[in-house]
Amino acid sequence: MPRLVSHPDEVKIVTRRFGLGATEIDRYIELGGYVSAKKCLEEGSDWIINEMKASGLRGRGGAGFPTGMKWSFVPKKSDKPKYVLVNGDESEPGTCKDHLIFLHDPHAVIEGAIIAGLAIGAKVGFIYLRGEYRYLIEIVEKAVADAYARGFLGKNIFGSDTEFQVITQSGAGAYEVGEESALMESLEGKRGIPRIKPPFPAVVGLYGGPTVINNAETIATVPHIFEMGPAAYAKVGSERNGGTRLFSISGHVERPGVYELPMGYNLKKMIYEVAGGVRGGRKLKAVVPGGSSTPVLLPEEIDLGMDFDQVGKAGSMLGSGGVVVIDDQTCIVEFALRTISFYQHESCGWCIPCREGTDWLKKSLTRFHAGFGVAKDIDNIQYLAENMMGRTFCPFGDAAAMPTLGFVKKFRKEFEDHLNGQPCPFAKHVELAVI
Ligand SMILES: Cc1cc2nc3c(=O)[nH]c(=O)nc-3n(C[C@H](O)[C@H](O)[C@H](O)COP(=O)(O)O)c2cc1C
Repeated sequence: MPRLVSHPDEVKIVTRRFGLGATEIDRYIELGGYVSAKKCLEEGSDWIINEMKASGLRGRGGAGFPTGMKWSFVPKKSDKPKYVLVNGDESEPGTCKDHLIFLHDPHAVIEGAIIAGLAIGAKVGFIYLRGEYRYLIEIVEKAVADAYARGFLGKNIFGSDTEFQVITQSGAGAYEVGEESALMESLEGKRGIPRIKPPFPAVVGLYGGPTVINNAETIATVPHIFEMGPAAYAKVGSERNGGTRLFSISGHVERPGVYELPMGYNLKKMIYEVAGGVRGGRKLKAVVPGGSSTPVLLPEEIDLGMDFDQVGKAGSMLGSGGVVVIDDQTCIVEFALRTISFYQHESCGWCIPCREGTDWLKKSLTRFHAGFGVAKDIDNIQYLAENMMGRTFCPFGDAAAMPTLGFVKKFRKEFEDHLNGQPCPFAKHVELAVI
């Protein structure tokens, strides 16, 4: 579990109640909790959505879709019930921020879900927690029960005639069910495989009803936006990227942990100042900027603002904000192998390019790393990965292929150094720390 760390450059918005006992509902209220939900109840749907658009908040689950816009896509009138889903599946290697929110501030998630429900006209919200987060279920369920006891949830929230119920659900330990449509399948009690899109969840989602699905950090940010005002929130971040982000910094740094920094914060500064630099004063070799699925960056590429647009322009992705720092003792071929091993294990098997592609990539990289590769294997690995891209029902195939392509493209020489029976040049240094 990452330590509660802090740095003077942090802007504590989402984390402002961490460590202050806010799991208790009285303390949460004392610290300003449930005021935003009450205000949103008075103001109504259109006002909420406009304020959300003005905040510039973009989804923290990976793709960075503007939250206010997503909510506006849900039809006002629907024959079927509408739903809010909080995605707490958090399984992307290198990312470990959502669990801190559930651990320290579960009411922020509940309050954010109420506001999302008011915005789209949903009466039910689900909080879906990663299977391995069993220790959090009790905390979240107690918070939900306390919110019911106070009348913040139920048939008549805050004494009004508006209903909002919250149900918690634990996953069974699959990365794929973090993907929104697979999550809905799983919630419906089926095998966690993706649905074909369109239709998109905003129109046909859970049980066929219009559904908004947001990452836990996205939802926990919502009450803070109404507390501080959308303009003030937007101003903290960079252009078109409002607010702060919880960056999980792991790997070979002196001070790994989760830091809340303004969107657009410089990556180099994040590594060398916030996280204390490369462990033991070693040389930086590479950085994975947004969780295991995002293409690797070289040291000369990290003087970069960490927002969705700037990281995209640099050829990678901000993703889930999981920054993995790699020092010069690390074998990139082994790193690529470990990454693809995760994806091979977690592929749901529904689409052939993903199921077969991850398996073949793992086999090729295993052979390669063991010194049994031949020169044409490098191009074959690249070819295999390229042919997974865009050929699956959900973005899992891309998520598995992109890191492999990045490693081969940027570290080809290191792949060549493993050729023709040569032992791994890094065999002595195989430690790889990911918090
Ligand atoms: C394979 C895969 C796994 C995903 N895992 C997660 C996850 O664990 N948590 C999450 O919030 N989003 C995850 N996503 C993204 C979700 O599909 C969805 O875009 C997100 O929950 C939307 O919320 P946001 O708009 O607040 O970012 C995943 C996507 C894919 C393709």
